[in-house]
Amino acid sequence: MVQLVQAVLSLLPLSSTLFQNPQQSIVPPLSSQSIAIVGAGSGGLAILKTLLDLPEDVRSTWEIVLYERRKDVGGLWLEDTRPPSPPRLPESPVYPLLHTNTPHPTMTYPGFTFPPGTPLFPSHEYMWKYHVDFAEKHNLTQYIRLNHVVLAAGWAGNSTTGQWKLEVARTDRLSEHELRSFDHLIVANGHNHYPRSPKWDGEDDWLASSPPSQPKREILHSIYYRHPERYINRTVVIVGGGASGRDAALQVGRLTKTYQSLQEGSLPPDGAQVTVKPPISHFTNTSVVFTDGTALTDVDSLILATGYQFLAPFLVHYPKNSGVSSPALIHSPDSSVNSTTAQSLTTNTRYIYPLYEHIFSLSPAFPPTALAFVGLPVLIANCPSDRAQALFISHAIADPSVLPSRGEMLDALVLREENLRERGYDPYYYGHKMVGGDSEAQAYQNALVRYLKQQGKLPEDEKDYVEPWRVMARQQSQLIGRAWSRVEELGEQNKWLDGVRTEDEWADVMQRLADWQVKWEERHGKDFDTYA
Ligand SMILES: Cc1cc2nc3c(=O)[nH]c(=O)nc-3n(C[C@H](O)[C@H](O)[C@H](O)COP(=O)(O)OP(=O)(O)OC[C@H]3O[C@@H](n4cnc5c(N)ncnc54)[C@H](O)[C@@H]3O)c2cc1C
Ligand SMILES: *[C@@H]1O[C@H](CO)[C@@H](O)[C@H](O)[C@H]1NC(C)=O
Ligand SMILES: *[C@@H]1O[C@H](CO)[C@@H](O)[C@H](O)[C@H]1NC(C)=O
Ligand SMILES: *[C@@H]1O[C@H](CO)[C@@H](O)[C@H](O)[C@H]1NC(C)=O
Ligand SMILES: *[C@@H]1O[C@H](CO)[C@@H](O)[C@H](O)[C@H]1NC(C)=O
Ligand SMILES: *[C@@H]1O[C@H](CO)[C@@H](O)[C@H](O)[C@H]1NC(C)=O
Repeated sequence: MVQLVQAVLSLLPLSSTLFQNPQQSIVPPLSSQSIAIVGAGSGGLAILKTLLDLPEDVRSTWEIVLYERRKDVGGLWLEDTRPPSPPRLPESPVYPLLHTNTPHPTMTYPGFTFPPGTPLFPSHEYMWKYHVDFAEKHNLTQYIRLNHVVLAAGWAGNSTTGQWKLEVARTDRLSEHELRSFDHLIVANGHNHYPRSPKWDGEDDWLASSPPSQPKREILHSIYYRHPERYINRTVVIVGGGASGRDAALQVGRLTKTYQSLQEGSLPPDGAQVTVKPPISHFTNTSVVFTDGTALTDVDSLILATGYQFLAPFLVHYPKNSGVSSPALIHSPDSSVNSTTAQSLTTNTRYIYPLYEHIFSLSPAFPPTALAFVGLPVLIANCPSDRAQALFISHAIADPSVLPSRGEMLDALVLREENLRERGYDPYYYGHKMVGGDSEAQAYQNALVRYLKQQGKLPEDEKDYVEPWRVMARQQSQLIGRAWSRVEELGEQNKWLDGVRTEDEWADVMQRLADWQVKWEERHGKDFDTYA
């Protein structure tokens, strides 16, 4: 019921614009545009492809450039194989044993499946290859400048008109940066790159007090996590129970003495060989002390699976001598600055605001279509969501009158935040998380696309954007996961995947696996020991 209410509410801000005064926001579409995209992960590739999908007569004079600092596309799915060397940040948090936690057909760009034979829960190499194939298949490569980093971006202009000034450099010649101008900036820089590491009282002294007979004590964020074997002969505390914490618990727990420190109400993953502890309170020279007063004296390593910060450093540093006099994004932990009062686009490291639908900046410093983000929502299937956002952005850039007025968008945002508060979630803490789970994530995407249909930008039909089979498979994701583990144990992958090519066939195989597993669990219960 709550989710239904939310689904309805999330439509409100969008549909209310149907009744706006059309004179208010109609701006003649600009004939020529220049657009810079930052990042060639799932989000950047989605917006690039979607811009190119616009009718030829709309975009033929547009200049579109995508800057990617790494040597290839694919974002975090392109592994950084250099051994971690803290505090230098790796280019990707991906680790060798990483497999997706959702079946790949649910993670696709609509209409672009994984190749035949791809295991249902693929390793990161398959994920990376999928993005490479997507870029090649759609001729995106000619628009992508690999090994190019955007160092700074600032808005030279005011709330109605202006241009972005970008400082861009090749990654091997950082000192030779060039200044380029663009009308629009689309940020798809990912949000799994800047660790969020809590600090506890006493941790520095604890680190400095390693007993001589023990391994050197360490506290490392999960972005540096690679091989579980590294932890053999160490006693480990994993902090956090998100996707990274669960994987570390399963992988490290079977090799060495492992604790997992979790918030009240969280549980370790099925099959993890860990002892649960509450959150950490502080450190003494000899021990890690938990909030229930218990202490561990034998700990050598902490793995902080404590998540990431939402940052875009290049928006904080504007190019000097470019006519820009203030940063596009400010970093402020100050809770008195909110979406209504912010004079600038702001991040408190959890939430970037004020943004319309997690996409367009409502900063008073520039027009709403000047700056857009792709990929901010969390707890969502990224590629389909990126595509829905990309449709919204492309049509709004082609015809800004698609968007409600800035005031209406701000009202919609305030409504969204109030709605979250009423449900007990502080919007400035939960940020871009789809706290209502899959149904909220899907309602979000459906609403974006439905709005474009209502505006006559996409062919009108009654269908939801998120296909029924995708909804089913997301719901049954864990069940399908247990089925797939059994298939692997039985070595029957080929039997299930032979001849599976199209989206419909992938949907069908997931349904059959779910049915097969339900029957098995009715007879045997759920406890198939997949991690033995
Ligand atoms: C360990 C891990 C496991 C995950 N597993 C799953 C999963 O199983 N299923 C799922 O749906 N999601 C998963 N996710 C979520 C994942 O973040 C998304 O699936 C998605 O691929 C992210 O894509 P993105 O394009 O938003 O960001 P990224 O993949 O991070 O891409 C951003 C790109 O921008 C580039 N960039 C950044 N700054 C600049 C700059 N200044 N100049 C030039 N280039 C720049 C980066 O180099 C990078 O290539 C996982 C995330 C993590 C961290
Ligand atoms: C990509 O480019 C090639 C060669 O220019 C062309 O033959 C092909 O049709 C293009 N594919 C798409 C999807 O545009
Ligand atoms: C913005 O700048 C343009 C061009 O310099 C100017 O014509 C316009 O009046 C300015 N608008 C505002 C709101 O300051
Ligand atoms: C704790 O360790 C620090 C750093 O090694 C040391 O300076 C300090 O004296 C120690 N405190 C106690 C109470 O042993
Ligand atoms: C763990 O300790 C044992 C016994 O001291 C030793 O033989 C082994 O090499 C150690 N393994 C690792 C990975 O450090
Ligand atoms: C922001 O703060 C102001 C003043 O404290 C308050 O009136 C307003 O309702 C707040 N807006 C949001 C979106 O929370």
